[in-house]
Amino acid sequence: MKALILAGGTGSRLRPITYSMAKQLVPVANKPVIEYGIESIAAAGIRKFGIIVGDTGAAVEAAVGNGERWGIEITYIPQDAPRGLAHAVATAKPFLGDDDFIMYLGDNLIKSSVSGLVQEFETHRPAATILLTPVPNPSDFGVAEMTEGTVTRLEEKPKEPKSNLALVGVYLFDKRIHESIATLQPSKRGEYEITDAIQDLIDRGLTVRSHIVEGWWKDTGTVEAMLEANRLILEDIERKITGTVDDASRVEGRVQVGAGSRIVNSTLRGPVIIGDHCTIENSFVGPFTAIDSNTTIVGSEIEYSIVLAECRIEATPARIEGSLIGRGVQVGRSSSMPKTIRLVLGDSSAISLP
Ligand code: G1P
Repeated sequence: MKALILAGGTGSRLRPITYSMAKQLVPVANKPVIEYGIESIAAAGIRKFGIIVGDTGAAVEAAVGNGERWGIEITYIPQDAPRGLAHAVATAKPFLGDDDFIMYLGDNLIKSSVSGLVQEFETHRPAATILLTPVPNPSDFGVAEMTEGTVTRLEEKPKEPKSNLALVGVYLFDKRIHESIATLQPSKRGEYEITDAIQDLIDRGLTVRSHIVEGWWKDTGTVEAMLEANRLILEDIERKITGTVDDASRVEGRVQVGAGSRIVNSTLRGPVIIGDHCTIENSFVGPFTAIDSNTTIVGSEIEYSIVLAECRIEATPARIEGSLIGRGVQVGRSSSMPKTIRLVLGDSSAISLP
């Protein structure tokens, strides 16, 4: 079996972060989202990976590399435009050949391992295995209709969903999916939908197995989902302090502090992860916060947030919460008069003041 990871897509709902960064590289607990999927599939024993890339392909390739560090081999496959998941599979056909494959959307995160799914697929040899999970907003996803435990219909982003079971971005296929993809017409949103291709498998009388995901699943397409994913990953971290913590500081619970980082006269209340070469001084870092490397926080309070590398946050007048702060951002306070708010914000930035 091969793996096909999808890392095209523009990440419009994560702007402005995604103006300068591929959405699959945005860090969750200081690790690019895409790496969680790669690790999970590599742990299932799969060695040949194809990664579909778009405009941000060079950045994805620079960050992820050739796969050596996971003992896998990665082929990068450019897609000319984000024309849908089924189009991505068609683009990858020369790489996939007639082999079975697991397809994983690069901005999805599932807690459970994929090993069992791979084994089960190889034992039962269905045309496809799909994962489902109940969601409160099924209209935002592909939705499955079930009859007596079997998927009977799939619909992409239905206005009137027939169930609350959303398609999770992890699929297993054998070569029969290529024939179904060849019959597709673009959907209402102008894309070649994998959901429609799976429906065609059902229409052809082929077996499509389904599983309800155990544990959580997140499509990290929005800031809220990204923060939730960060919270869920941080829920499971172990305490590991490599940097230095001075006597005036308090480190409570499951906290990680990376190499070369300094915690000075501050409180860290876990779960929290601080990367390498950070300085946290006279500050409070509260639960479910990830601070990436080379970031400095002085005289400030922050919780339930993601801060990327090389930021400086200083003397903020209120606690920062529920925030996603991009690379190299400076947040500060001016001591001179007049006391105004001065902003240098990129396109599509969002700020809310107390
Ligand atoms: C895609 C699929 C959809 C699935 C979702 C999971 O949606 O088309 O069926 O439920 O991924 O993340 P998209 O991210 O393209 O809107």
